[in-house]
Amino acid sequence: MMLSKKIGIDLGTSTVLIYVKGEGIVVNEPSLVAVNRDGTRILAIGRQAQEMVGRTPDAIQVVRPMREGVIADFVVTEGMLHHFIGKVQGRQRLFKPEIMICVPSGVTSVERRAVTEAAISAGARQAWLIDEPLAAAIGAGLPIAEPRGNAICDIGGGTTEIAVISLSGMVVAHSIRVGGNRFDDAIAAYMKRKHNLLIGERSAEELKITAGSAVTMKDPLVGEVRGRDLVSGLPRNLEISSNEVVEAIQEPLRLIVGAVRSVLEETPPELAADIFDRGIVLSGGGAQLRGLDRYLAMHTGIPTVVADEPQTSVVRGTGLALENFEVLKRNQAYLR
Ligand SMILES: Nc1ncnc2c1ncn2[C@@H]1O[C@H](COP(=O)(O)OP(=O)(O)OP(=O)(O)O)[C@@H](O)[C@H]1O
Ligand SMILES: [Mg+2]
Repeated sequence: MMLSKKIGIDLGTSTVLIYVKGEGIVVNEPSLVAVNRDGTRILAIGRQAQEMVGRTPDAIQVVRPMREGVIADFVVTEGMLHHFIGKVQGRQRLFKPEIMICVPSGVTSVERRAVTEAAISAGARQAWLIDEPLAAAIGAGLPIAEPRGNAICDIGGGTTEIAVISLSGMVVAHSIRVGGNRFDDAIAAYMKRKHNLLIGERSAEELKITAGSAVTMKDPLVGEVRGRDLVSGLPRNLEISSNEVVEAIQEPLRLIVGAVRSVLEETPPELAADIFDRGIVLSGGGAQLRGLDRYLAMHTGIPTVVADEPQTSVVRGTGLALENFEVLKRNQAYLR
């Protein structure tokens, strides 16, 4: 009988997701924590903390314990993990879970150790790490064990990870600290520059999701932003079209294309030929930006598709890797 749960965790910059074998995705919450002013006490975690963003009195601040894919605040991250793992454990707290967590491929060994330690002190019996692009590729259903080139591009909140995988190992991988958050920043900067309107990161993100696009649209959508007019100092609402968003996010788009291109340039010719046939698969929440697949196809010359349910590819892949751990153990390339 197996009493301890097997848990896969995607400890993202924007979202924390947890997959439990036999149960599916059981946690899907923003990685936000509300703490008191000096950061010594946790007041709310996840969705509850999100509701406080931008509306906190002086005594409370809402923080992102993960930044650009790595732990920015160890104590708060550990507290957040503890909370979510406890939720998953329910009454089964007697048996500590086995945990697999994904980390961006670019992180240092010190950063890796910090993640493992956070998992152990949050209650894991054992903790393993898997590189995020591998997890994303497994979750997206790519046949990574074959001796063929598979290309994955995961666009998260803080990072974009691009990798070419063959025989269950990463052959080439690049991680850039550009993700959905950078799109939000670019939109906010544009609103200030073009419309003298100061908007928060949440409204920038909302506009990106409701009307944003990577390519010019024939029938553009319209989104509304609310902010403060820099001239009058008063609140103001403004309607913005998709095509204005296209203009606003040119810089982060170009950075992502640049990273995809450099991965392709470093890919050995046989594998590059496979990728030319099979295309690039996009995962991560950021992959849902309208027209991003077409934009990348246009600028790389390689067919590009978005995975099914891209925002949960990584956590499903992380959970699956743990289920097949016996198989995976034989292939050290998989796990570090
Ligand atoms: N429909 C959408 N269109 C565009 N962007 C979206 C959409 N839905 C979510 N996003 C963006 O996806 C990003 C979050 O993606 P995801 O949950 O994969 O990140 P993460 O795994 O937490 O981050 P990271 O992997 O960088 O640590 C956010 O920037 C969010 O704004
Ligand atoms: Mg991610």
